[in-house]
Amino acid sequence: MTPTPSNRPLRVCVLGGDGIGPEVTRAAVQVLRAVCERDRIELDLGEYPFGSSSFRETGDAFPEASRQAASEADAVLLGAVGDPAFDHLPPMERPQRALLDLRQLLDAWANLRPARMSAGLLDASPMKPEIVRDLDVLVVRELLSGLYFGRPRERRVENGEEVAIDTMVYREHEIERIVRLAFELAQKRKKKLCSVDKSNVLECSRLWEQIVARIAPEFPDVELSHLYVDACATALVTHPAEFDVIVSSNLFGDVLSDQTAGILGSLGVLPSASVGGPTSLFEPVHGSAPSLAGQDKANPMAAILSAAMLLRHTGGHEGAALAIEAAVDQALALGLRTADLLPKARRHEACTTTAFTDAVLAALQQPA
Ligand code: IPM
Ligand code: MG
Repeated sequence: MTPTPSNRPLRVCVLGGDGIGPEVTRAAVQVLRAVCERDRIELDLGEYPFGSSSFRETGDAFPEASRQAASEADAVLLGAVGDPAFDHLPPMERPQRALLDLRQLLDAWANLRPARMSAGLLDASPMKPEIVRDLDVLVVRELLSGLYFGRPRERRVENGEEVAIDTMVYREHEIERIVRLAFELAQKRKKKLCSVDKSNVLECSRLWEQIVARIAPEFPDVELSHLYVDACATALVTHPAEFDVIVSSNLFGDVLSDQTAGILGSLGVLPSASVGGPTSLFEPVHGSAPSLAGQDKANPMAAILSAAMLLRHTGGHEGAALAIEAAVDQALALGLRTADLLPKARRHEACTTTAFTDAVLAALQQPA
């Protein structure tokens, strides 16, 4: 969120990661380089090992050199992590854990996941066009607390049976900062904020609700609503276009943002920015999709749009970000679709990762 001084290059640490991560990140880097050249933004890009691939090669999913590069950069551009070969391990011992470590290292407590319907995507959505045509929602997800990080977290045997324990913890300041940021972001959009919790059951959610009520008077121009997370899941399907900004906890935000992706038609289209600390992190919402890896089939849209978010949030390069977003829309309008955006019967029409990226690059070169 801090613009970098214009007298030095924008330092970007690239972590391709696992599965389709490296190929979609390569596409995003190509687009980033092209727009930066066009707009004379100086880039200093370095690529580092991360995730299961790094674990295999070096025995460490997040080696020290990668840690250092990430924390010294202005922004981190990440692909994806996750490899089914490690699924037998407990979650916190999998190489995928590196992603949570990275978010912690960067103190990236706010995860912004925008989802906007593009005219060229309408036919890819499983929803009726009149319901999704105007969808433009920003999910603001708390990223460093809640069930993901609470202690105790353990497995033990009690009375001869296995017991698993996760703990949901929220501290006042953690809720306060994410809620305030969400209000500020709503102020710059359609001025509607929906706070999503489960305060009819959870103590953390009751605290959440109280803090939202305390902060709301500071933003009298923002129309505030509340939904329990289950009701929000329904409302997102029945009238998604009525949402503007949704703010929620780590787990609920994780689930709801995947749901918005499904409403648009594919997980392959949603970018994200994780902000709060001195270095921000930009990554597609999707995972590593190991079954697609290395086949030039993955949708690079989410990664390319993450590069646009990087330019907007880190360098303050709004024009360059808009140019990338327009170029993606243009590629879609030309009818280019990776397989994830096509129904099974039409998958033979799918374009490759390379073809989609080339169309975005070509659109970028056209005069605005
Ligand atoms: C996401 C992912 C991650 C999360 C996983 C891979 C740990 O689902 O970024 O949404 O749950 O945060
Ligand atoms: Mg997720």
